[in-house]
Amino acid sequence: MREELKRYREFLKDDVRLKIDFSTTDQNRRVPPPPVQKPIRQGQTPILLPTPETFDMFRGTDLIDAITGRFSHRSFLNSPLTVEEVSFLLWSTQGIRQAVNPGCAFRTVPSAGCRHAFETYLLIRQVDALSEGVYRYLPLDHALVLEHRVTEMTRLLDQATLAQSFVGSAPVVFVWTVVPYRMEWRYDIAAHRVIAIDVGHVCQNLYLACEAISCGTCAIAAYHQSKMDSLLKVDGDDEYTLYLAPVGKV
Ligand SMILES: Cc1cc2nc3c(=O)[nH]c(=O)nc-3n(C[C@H](O)[C@H](O)[C@H](O)COP(=O)(O)O)c2cc1C
Repeated sequence: MREELKRYREFLKDDVRLKIDFSTTDQNRRVPPPPVQKPIRQGQTPILLPTPETFDMFRGTDLIDAITGRFSHRSFLNSPLTVEEVSFLLWSTQGIRQAVNPGCAFRTVPSAGCRHAFETYLLIRQVDALSEGVYRYLPLDHALVLEHRVTEMTRLLDQATLAQSFVGSAPVVFVWTVVPYRMEWRYDIAAHRVIAIDVGHVCQNLYLACEAISCGTCAIAAYHQSKMDSLLKVDGDDEYTLYLAPVGKV
């Protein structure tokens, strides 16, 4: 086997854990945990979303039907999503069940060590009552903040997703970035493997939640790293794009 291939295969093994002296991790050196969500900038105003009590209207989908019916959608109707639907999808993927302290909160998805190292960005083209732009989810507040406006979102997304043009045609695109330190604080060099495992749960919940609201999605792991990071205006080191998923009515 090629040496390089052999080396990369090791990434999936948990042998990395044996190399760590856990007494030296930031957690065990009593460094305070990083916050559960990235703070907002001065001047940004949270846009509160409909709360989970309003999700009753989405009840009724049978779990077995949702699992059976799930598949990857690569074309979407030209119809906007409602704010209620977007709120439901955000809660299903990263919503908070119970905030424990400023550095720890249980969510609707599992995460290694409850570290939840992701931020969720929404590239919004067509959502009732929300103008076009790049938004970020604030799970503690169950709110969105407008990060910035983008002209030519479709064209930029097309370039950033290596000409997978169905992504840019979706009314909303979920983009999950990772803030690696949130996981490294506890797991040091064993953080990155579990980050990659964690994000799968998030996207699977998106697939299943879409089934409840006549929407579809498609996991996207093939993209141009620096173009996606520039689109979101994240630094590419302490926070960078990991996974995305366009969502639309089907
Ligand atoms: C980690 C991961 C990465 C993927 N990346 C892409 C992608 O970049 N582009 C795409 O069109 N589909 C992508 N997919 C979707 C797969 O192609 C799809 O899940 C697979 O063909 C099985 O089809 P199904 O989801 O309809 O069952 C990805 C799926 C996963 C889980």
